[in-house]
Amino acid sequence: MSTPNHHIGLINRYKARLPINANTRIISLNEGNTPLIQLQNIPRMIGKDVDIYVKFEGLNPTGSFKDRGMTMAVTKAVEEGSRAIICASTGNTSASAAAYAARAVIKAFVLIPDGKIALGKLAQTLMYNATIIQINGNFDQGMELVKEVATHAPVTIVNSINPYRIDGQKTAAFEIVDDLGQAPDYHCLPVGNAGNITAYWKGYKEYSMETNSIAAVTAKRPVMCGYQAAGAAPFVAGHMIDNPETLATAIRIGRPQSWDFAWAAQKESGGWFDKFSDEQILAAQKMLSQYEGIFCEPASATSLAGALQDIASGKIPEGSTIVCTLTGNGIKDPDIAIKQCADAKPVTIDASLDAVKRAILDNL
Ligand code: F0G
Repeated sequence: MSTPNHHIGLINRYKARLPINANTRIISLNEGNTPLIQLQNIPRMIGKDVDIYVKFEGLNPTGSFKDRGMTMAVTKAVEEGSRAIICASTGNTSASAAAYAARAVIKAFVLIPDGKIALGKLAQTLMYNATIIQINGNFDQGMELVKEVATHAPVTIVNSINPYRIDGQKTAAFEIVDDLGQAPDYHCLPVGNAGNITAYWKGYKEYSMETNSIAAVTAKRPVMCGYQAAGAAPFVAGHMIDNPETLATAIRIGRPQSWDFAWAAQKESGGWFDKFSDEQILAAQKMLSQYEGIFCEPASATSLAGALQDIASGKIPEGSTIVCTLTGNGIKDPDIAIKQCADAKPVTIDASLDAVKRAILDNL
């Protein structure tokens, strides 16, 4: 039971716009309803008249936007009688799949690139008790194996090639429009496997036209800006790439599954793709933590790195309203965070009042 104000997940909130019926047993961890936070200090620092909001998806139950798609995918898998789900992952999908499988009391199998996922994501996936299969290969190879094995074993794929994932994730666009009263002018987000840009664009489109006999909410749609890590930027190259490399391991992907959908989002919205070095990505991550108190994971900060560059160049003009999706929580990747702050080592002192006073005065 819940009161009218108790958010019990995005399927419940947007059920009229999702492929479920009254008898569907919803598998949920109360995902969605994440904060849209307006940046206060960074716009002032860059001296531009822009409204920048971040959609902090790191505050979902497993700390990333994947939970939006996973509640739908696992709900439908269970409805269709599946007893096991499988995915390839750079870490967040695997954590989310494992959590929702635990909630549904079914099995989760996850293929991850050995040694290339952030520590927190591994810890989560272990705790949720998934069967973890580490491969000597990257995400793209894992994805091919998952597609192959699903034709041989009774498992449901819950990567974003599963259309229910996209349906769940499109609700982030609904929430943004509901919060702002209309779509933003620009929507910036990191692109890896390209499921999320596909989902946002679907959500914005559905909210801007009559869909399943539900009236449009707003006529407006944003320009979609898809940003990639320089070493893993197939959309900037214009072709799939082998051996993608970036410190932002979440988006270390060279062969995105939603290739055509992402191009459609770019073309239909009048948007663009661009790429950023690991240094630029880490600088944006640090800036957001240091000047706004918002700690996202490296891949997520690619959205802000991109927005800041395009605001500086005027490609995104002054007066614009911009939303950057922060796809995952910074706590997931403690190794990178601690490396980023190597110069800011904690001061170690005696446990005495004098020493504490000195430490404060030295650092004021
Ligand atoms: N940001 C984070 C934190 C991610 O984990 C991912 C994808 C993306 C951005 C890119 O989103 O793939 O929809 O374009 N992570 C997947 C995973 C691949 O396995 O967790 P996308």
